[in-house]
Amino acid sequence: MRIRKAVIPAAGFGTRFLPATKSQPKEMLPVVDKPLIQYGVEEAVQSGIENIAIIISRGKSSIEDYFDKSPELEQFLKEKRKLDLLEEIKGISNLAEFCYIRQKKALGLGHAILMGEDYIGQEPFAVLLPDDIFDCHIPCTKQLVDAYYEVKASIIVLGRVDEEGTKKYGIIKPKQISERLFQIEDMIEKPGPDRAFSDLGILGRYIFNPEIFEAIKKTSPDSRGEIQITDAIRLLLETQPIYGYLFEGKRYDAGDKLGFMEAIIDLALKRAEFGQKLREYLKSLL
Ligand code: G1P
Repeated sequence: MRIRKAVIPAAGFGTRFLPATKSQPKEMLPVVDKPLIQYGVEEAVQSGIENIAIIISRGKSSIEDYFDKSPELEQFLKEKRKLDLLEEIKGISNLAEFCYIRQKKALGLGHAILMGEDYIGQEPFAVLLPDDIFDCHIPCTKQLVDAYYEVKASIIVLGRVDEEGTKKYGIIKPKQISERLFQIEDMIEKPGPDRAFSDLGILGRYIFNPEIFEAIKKTSPDSRGEIQITDAIRLLLETQPIYGYLFEGKRYDAGDKLGFMEAIIDLALKRAEFGQKLREYLKSLL
């Protein structure tokens, strides 16, 4: 079945980014000149996805406004003959069909994804965590979608992590199938170096069969009262195979202050308008 829907969880408090996120969504922080969440949305669209449910919470309505039409702004740009900007602004609201679902309480990533159950129905779907920016020749979600069509089972994006990474990411126990494809035998959320099965970490892109929703419902909350998606995937593993795909490209953890700055610098350096000037400026500092 074709992957045409995605869920983007954007309901968190953005605690790693306080105080900037005290009164604005982390997902709207600009990375060069686009909000963080737009990178995930564009990646989904470039991967063939047409319908996107964004899971939001109180204080996140600027995300809805951003992907909506802005008739006054469009009219203004038209009158001022700023036609390039006009096209760009119009393009944002035409990216995909959006739906917004509220998560009333911060009960974890698994719970946020469960909010999308009615929207998704009985079909496989993608999940994109907006904190992660992937800069890949073939969009990361597209790599995952293509691998999904091959294995026809839930599949997760993997990356190699260092010791620090074992404290930040879910870690899998792999059985290697081919160069980039692994069957997952087990997984554990943020185990730390001593309990990690491998150096293969779960990054923020997933494709799930709809059975994941039942698994989330059966998952007990962790010690902090949150329903972790990693625990739900572990439950799903008991009834069906799940795979991991080692993506090709670069990924930034833009939900973290340092990762956010790295993403801005790298992506800005690639821009024709100011990349060279920025490079010279950075050189002058070092
Ligand atoms: C979540 C998942 C974790 C995964 C990570 C990827 O953690 O629970 O398994 O490795 O995203 O970014 P979070 O970053 O929400 O704490």
